[in-house]
Amino acid sequence: MKNSIEALQQEIDTFVINSADELEAFRLRFMVRKGSIAAMFNQLKDASPAERPHYGQLLNQLKESAGQKYDDAKKRLDASSSGTGKQHVDLTLPGRKEYSGSEHPVQKVLGDMKQIFSAMGFTIATGPELELDTYNFEMLNFPENHPARDMQDTFFITRKEGKDDLLLRTHTSPVQIRVMLDEKPPIRVICPGKVYRNEAISARSYCVFHQLEGLYIDKSVSFADLKATIYSFAKQMFGSNVHIRFRPSFFPFTEPSAEVDITCYLCGGKGCRVCKHSGWLEILGCGMVHPNVLRNCNIDPDEYSGFAFGMGVDRTALLRYRINDIRLLFENDVRMLEQFMQ
Ligand code: DAH
Repeated sequence: MKNSIEALQQEIDTFVINSADELEAFRLRFMVRKGSIAAMFNQLKDASPAERPHYGQLLNQLKESAGQKYDDAKKRLDASSSGTGKQHVDLTLPGRKEYSGSEHPVQKVLGDMKQIFSAMGFTIATGPELELDTYNFEMLNFPENHPARDMQDTFFITRKEGKDDLLLRTHTSPVQIRVMLDEKPPIRVICPGKVYRNEAISARSYCVFHQLEGLYIDKSVSFADLKATIYSFAKQMFGSNVHIRFRPSFFPFTEPSAEVDITCYLCGGKGCRVCKHSGWLEILGCGMVHPNVLRNCNIDPDEYSGFAFGMGVDRTALLRYRINDIRLLFENDVRMLEQFMQ
């Protein structure tokens, strides 16, 4: 009996418990009523009365060491989670941050612009960024040798010096042509989108930016309608206190043409660094659609007239959100963008 007890003790000492399965195997082998230690207790009755207390004591030690080993192994496995599949949860750890995307500052400004114009009855039209020379220039009444057609300003994709040349549109005005070719007046659309120019890249200008174009064609549309529309837009967009001025200007596709300034909404017109101490900020170009442009799109200028306007979106985003470098709007660095979460 002594030998059997020693052999069992050795088996207990060398039993490896590194998983829940092994722990269970250990329990079934040594600790249950039909296990090997219990079987030894049953054999006690066969021992002589003189030896019985001694063996009883040895068996109790054996039972105790098996129990101790079982408890220790269970604690170790619970703590390390390996094998049991249970996670050890530390409630004192800081929570994990959930990131929800945010609207890009340019899209926020564009969203406001779209909302203001759609309340006035304008619908949204879009056109391709890869555009035909003829829609970008020719049909918009750009004379053949206009400097805007120069390689310096335009990213040409093909260059055969013809109407079918492909280029990255330099403004959203070609969408006007596409809409007028497609639809009969009355037409009232805005055309938001990206435009491309071969500019020297700096904090103030980038090779891609956003514009929003507007076009309204109907019978007897006048410059007064254009003014009313722009006034209403500017007051809603930049605040009811802004002053607005129209300056005569030139665009090949409008006659007469104007540029529109608002009082600088940072300094209120007093003059500051942003408005270059003039008190005014230019917001858009506009004018009455040139009769040649209407004719190019099979619209009779004696029957219909209309106005158009085009504005930059990015600069408004820069001013509104106090961003000092236009390149930040295109780099998509989340550290910058996550500052614009609602
Ligand atoms: N296309 C012009 C530009 O990129 C902006 C513009 C001016 C658009 C006058 C118009 C307009 O529709 O009437 O600078």
